[in-house]
Amino acid sequence: MDRLGAGDEDLIRVAALARQRAYAPYSKYRVGAAVRTRRNKIYSGANVENASYGLTVCAERCAVWAAVAAGETKDFDAIAIVIDDDRLPSPCGACRQVLAEFAPAVRVVLATTSGQRRTTSLDVLLPEPFLPQNLS
Ligand code: THU
Repeated sequence: MDRLGAGDEDLIRVAALARQRAYAPYSKYRVGAAVRTRRNKIYSGANVENASYGLTVCAERCAVWAAVAAGETKDFDAIAIVIDDDRLPSPCGACRQVLAEFAPAVRVVLATTSGQRRTTSLDVLLPEPFLPQNLS
């Protein structure tokens, strides 16, 4: 496990705040995420579910898309993911693929509201991803 970097606790705090806005009436599994750019801007998201289930969007993608929609691309250095559980979160495969598109070198900070912490990287979570370069 890598050590927490400078500002990671702040990023976790922002993700934990976002988590409070999760809309998860079906799973009751509330997730918050916050992504930080190299210029130190932070964008957050929470999971938003839907009665049709399949339209649910995870917190990680919500945060990345907020950043991209604000004009940020390919310039992210960390994402924090926070849940309120006994065990640490683990981003789903779809979110890993989205992170690979916009943040291939991102550090991933996993946290629980009770204070557990672990850092990893997208390299470890999704080795050999499908990338835009594969299309050319
Ligand atoms: N979820 C996330 O937001 N992030 C993850 O890393 C895993 C799963 C959400 C999707 C759904 O709303 C709920 O958690 C249960 O799967």
